[in-house]
Amino acid sequence: MSRPPIDRTGNPLLSVEKLKVHFPIRSGAFGRASGHVYAVDGVTFDLWPGETLGLVGESGCGKSTTGRAILRLLEPTAGSVAFDGQDVRALDRAGLRALRRRAQIVFQDPFGSLNPRMSVGAMLEEALTVHRLHESNRRGRVIELLERVGLREEHLDRYPHEFSGGQRQRLGIARALSVEPDFLILDEPVSALDVSVQAQVVNLLDDLQGDLGLTYLFIAHDLSLVEHVSDRVAVMYLGRIVELADAEDLYRGPRHPYTKALLSAVPRPDPIGREQRERIVLSGDVPSPSDPPSGCLFHPRCPHPKKDERCTSVYPITEGSSDGHLVACPHADS
Ligand SMILES: Nc1ncnc2c1ncn2[C@@H]1O[C@H](COP(=O)(O)OP(=O)(O)OP(=O)(O)O)[C@@H](O)[C@H]1O
Ligand code: SF4
Ligand SMILES: [Mg+2]
Repeated sequence: MSRPPIDRTGNPLLSVEKLKVHFPIRSGAFGRASGHVYAVDGVTFDLWPGETLGLVGESGCGKSTTGRAILRLLEPTAGSVAFDGQDVRALDRAGLRALRRRAQIVFQDPFGSLNPRMSVGAMLEEALTVHRLHESNRRGRVIELLERVGLREEHLDRYPHEFSGGQRQRLGIARALSVEPDFLILDEPVSALDVSVQAQVVNLLDDLQGDLGLTYLFIAHDLSLVEHVSDRVAVMYLGRIVELADAEDLYRGPRHPYTKALLSAVPRPDPIGREQRERIVLSGDVPSPSDPPSGCLFHPRCPHPKKDERCTSVYPITEGSSDGHLVACPHADS
């Protein structure tokens, strides 16, 4: 899918800087914090209007926590989040309500986030009522929303369990769209679906983005999927972004040793069907985010031949080349 160029000369819609979310680990009778899970530990990125940023990384690296903290569904521990120039962390109740109208989240498990006892029509109308939208013709708007996501008026009186997985995700998207947002966080929106259905939902998201000018943060662990839907891709490891680049550049020429290893596991047949990349198998498991390594978080598993003692003591500065390709590794290939 070729994507139209993104204009990054204006202000970003979303600016996340040094975002941290540390969860206290409570133990003992008084529930005192005996440590912390460093789920997100200094995440920085910008997102421009109409852009899709793919956020990838292994399970537990902090993708969902980042998404939730941006919308303040979780309170960040530190750092800043600005949405359309407004400091999200300073918003009062009214400000948060306004933010949640402009920025919505779509979860992997749409059934879990849909009320099983509410008909689809009632559920979508409720969202309009909360935000006092379309007061004169809510039913008309609900039918429009259903059609927008490829469903029909006859689905209005049905309940979530009467729909297939793909249809339920369409409902989740319709609900997110009901408040006319500018920005969607898509947290593994197709991971639970069959491959053929995945493609249909991804196409729907792509059409909606084109028609409505939406901006997406697309969270996924499926690297091939992210390549096709994203303008840029950020790779997370243990709560930090280790590489961020234009999607095509990142997939063609990954620079960080972790990204290289991740991508080496993704089949990329050349025109005659042979794989071009040698598989890099990392030793050991991802360390616990409650006891992260010192220095570069990747150092215990890093296969780079130039790995040195600085890697074990200092977290590398994230450096960017002129094309905006950011890497947190002084030994990264350019
Ligand atoms: N409420 C919480 N309390 C304590 N730890 C948490 C909480 N939520 C998440 N975590 C931990 O924070 C880390 C990051 O979790 P998160 O759900 O953000 O990862 P993820 O990248 O979305 O993973 P996945 O791909 O499995 O969805 C994990 O170690 C997780 O166990
Ligand atoms: S900083 Fe050192 S340990 Fe970290 S990725 Fe680079 S070479 Fe590997
Ligand atoms: Mg997650």
